Amino acid sequence: MEREKRYKNTILIDSGDDKAIKEAAEHLRNGEVIGFPTETVYGLGCDAGNGDAVRKVFEAKGRPADNPLICHIGDKSQIKDIVSEITPLAQTLIDAFMPGPITIVMKKADSISAQTTAGLDTVGVRMPSHPVANKFLKYCGVPVAAPSANLSGRPSPTGARSVIEDMDGYIYAVIDGGDSEYGLESTVVDCTGKDPVILRPGAVTKADIDSVLKNKNTVMSDALTGGETPKAPGMKYRHYAPYAQVEIIDMPEGTKITGDDAIGTDGKIENSRFTLEDLKKLSDDEAKELVNIASPFILRSRELLSKNPFVRIGLYCGTEIKTVYDKLNDKLLSAHTEFCVYGKTTDVSCASHGLFEGLRFLDVQEVDVILAQGFNGEGLSVAYMNRLSKASGKKEELTPGMPAPARPARTPLPIDAFKDTVTASVLFVDDNNTSLSSCCEVLMRQMIEKNEPYISGDYADTGFELYCESAGLTAMDGLGADPQMDKAVKEISGRGLNNVESRRADPAIYDCNDLILTVRDEQAFAITKAFPEIKDKVFSFSTFAASNGLVMKDSSGRVMSISVPDPTGENYETYLHTAKALKAWLEVLFPYILKYAGASRI
Ligand code: TXA
Ligand code: MG
Repeated sequence: MEREKRYKNTILIDSGDDKAIKEAAEHLRNGEVIGFPTETVYGLGCDAGNGDAVRKVFEAKGRPADNPLICHIGDKSQIKDIVSEITPLAQTLIDAFMPGPITIVMKKADSISAQTTAGLDTVGVRMPSHPVANKFLKYCGVPVAAPSANLSGRPSPTGARSVIEDMDGYIYAVIDGGDSEYGLESTVVDCTGKDPVILRPGAVTKADIDSVLKNKNTVMSDALTGGETPKAPGMKYRHYAPYAQVEIIDMPEGTKITGDDAIGTDGKIENSRFTLEDLKKLSDDEAKELVNIASPFILRSRELLSKNPFVRIGLYCGTEIKTVYDKLNDKLLSAHTEFCVYGKTTDVSCASHGLFEGLRFLDVQEVDVILAQGFNGEGLSVAYMNRLSKASGKKEELTPGMPAPARPARTPLPIDAFKDTVTASVLFVDDNNTSLSSCCEVLMRQMIEKNEPYISGDYADTGFELYCESAGLTAMDGLGADPQMDKAVKEISGRGLNNVESRRADPAIYDCNDLILTVRDEQAFAITKAFPEIKDKVFSFSTFAASNGLVMKDSSGRVMSISVPDPTGENYETYLHTAKALKAWLEVLFPYILKYAGASRI
């Protein structure tokens, strides 16, 4: 089904705006699609009795039509209108776990549209415990059919921002209810047979279900253990996948996992920052355990780097692992690693809470591979590993799924109010500052704007502004740019050099910049010779690439340095070629420049 933008923008509704939530409910009853928060993940809701509205949801998600939607309710009294029979087994689970992160599959009633259940005679019923979901569903009054609010195949959204990222313009509105508490979708339990069958593991675990049932045997669906065709139709598709390749890094056997008693977490997500000081205070045994958990990440990263010096690696790991990396202080490894830290390394509820947003965050950093912490064990680990192995495509051979969607162009989103903003600046230097360095300045500025906004390293609440400027070692002040270069830059970027006036590089300018990049090696050499005290921040393109382990080889395998000759006096084709070459190099170096400055894209 072709995806079609229906609105200029999707309206973002504040969870405190009762009037707007009521209006959204009214729009839903009139056939619109509304994104709403739940304690598991965000949902894309519509009236379950309205086939046209359900079609809109399938269209907005790009979801295959054979995958049914769950019906959400705000009050248990609605269940009888949705299903034809509530068996004693279903009733027990309803009493024990609703409202909460569970979906109970029962025989459907006629009132539910066949589009909702994809033609099945059963329906999944879920009553979220999230207060905003609850209020919204009560205002809706009708059963609300809702899948997770991601584009089909992508990680489910656990924040309103990610819903907007996937759905802007495709749905009417989304209600912002903050971070989802669990971060993984509900446990889906089929209660149409003698024994309950878990079709999708979630925060209500097998042990939780067993604990409320007498003389019943909770079964894990064969599909989850690698067997037959999945009974939950959605389980056969490639899922939760970021654009990067995901690899699971196993937790060493015997590691004590915490937080796996999922429904007991009360949403208390520990986000400890484990520091180098903490590392020093550990006993030998504790330190050894940490190194054991960290070393597979390090070994695999080095292996990846040895195969491809350009590889960019994302780590989804605990705070202690990052500290081990910091302590290791391997410059090359660090330059190629982007972290997304979920909290305490062994805490699977933190890891679950942050997983989908973490995969999305690392995608935005444009890493090629994501190494994600695995968890062995029962309880919540089962649900976490189910999602992670689907994201890693590990079971691809078993379940032929959809191809990963192509990476779409990024739409910059408005910056949320940051507590603080830090800044950094990059200076491009060549000789005369009328051509090469001004070209770099303009192209770099465009790249910076295209990838906005930024945050400061590990601190999601601190904004980051990156600036760039240019200067020349032998430049005269106040000259306009070379008209040929102006034309070439305009041709490749749509922006000219008319705002750049040449100026001579001097210590005051060096002082204002955190990174100084020269086009040619001898220019960097000249600066560090004259001002040895700033040598740590001065690089040529070549030495900056080399310091990040980016080894360039020519066709005969010889290591080459980046050399961009000055096109002055040559024809326009040469200028154009030069501008294109600079752009290509800046694109290669851009992620490393961000990393050097301490900025991350969000
Ligand atoms: O936590 C959740 O369940 C979230 C929030 C929004 O409530 N919803 C969600 O929906 O994850 P969705 O559509 O992304 O996943 C529902 C899963 C799919 O794998 C689907 O195939 C399965 O539940 N399912 C739905 N109805 C079913 C039925 N009648 N029989 C078997 N499986 C069903
Ligand atoms: Mg889903």
